[in-house]
Amino acid sequence: MELTKVVPWGRSFEEYQGMFGLSEGDLSKRILGCGDGPASFNVEATDRGCQVTSCDPVYQFQADEIRHRIDDVYPEIMAKMHQGADNFIWESLSSVEQLGEVRMKAMSRFLSDFDAGCRQGRYVSASLPSLPFPDSEFDLALCSHYLFLYSDHVDGAAHLESMRELCRVASEVRVFPVVSLDGNISKHLDQVMTALSANGIDVSLQPVSYRFQKGATEMLVAKSV
Ligand SMILES: C[S@@+](CC[C@H](N)C(=O)[O-])C[C@H]1O[C@@H](n2cnc3c(N)ncnc32)[C@H](O)[C@@H]1O
Repeated sequence: MELTKVVPWGRSFEEYQGMFGLSEGDLSKRILGCGDGPASFNVEATDRGCQVTSCDPVYQFQADEIRHRIDDVYPEIMAKMHQGADNFIWESLSSVEQLGEVRMKAMSRFLSDFDAGCRQGRYVSASLPSLPFPDSEFDLALCSHYLFLYSDHVDGAAHLESMRELCRVASEVRVFPVVSLDGNISKHLDQVMTALSANGIDVSLQPVSYRFQKGATEMLVAKSV
């Protein structure tokens, strides 16, 4: 992975709760956040006493390198958000400026925790479709804004392989959103659900409370039975 190709953008614990319908019971599980990038989910969950491991290829870089990349691409992302503002629901976040502040706060929180989190094994450099964890290491794997969102960049076979890998390391997998960047249901979703089901995995789409990208109202849940 080249850092100059990464567009870092991180969400908060509260957003993860909404995206994945996380209950108190869920938060007592061994959780993997796959593709967590510069989200503050791990640090905020750890502060609450949860057991969370995050993995992402961006963790191969140093905190300073990630910080510089965030600062470099921030104006570009904000310009794109202004252009595409009609594709989002401006309720809990009322403006592009407020979104920028919330995201920067989450990413600062992540950056200040990154070195300690690496030492504690909470941030692991890894990429789907192959993860460095034993079978059933986690009870719950969460994948926010990577699989299905980038359906034009990641093909169907890689989606399926990635979902099988997540199901190998965790007994339950939740992925949000299942729409791609254009707001339409991912072109890979049907084939992935059918193939997982044929493998004996219980798959379903479940509504979530989180609202931001138009069309993104459901998460994919895959449970190994
Ligand atoms: C849009 S960001 C989402 C970050 C975070 N999950 C959130 O919702 O705030 C997408 C993340 O996917 C990560 N990513 C890219 N390729 C990946 C792969 N092959 N396996 C796992 N994560 C990957 C990126 O490094 C980036 O951090």
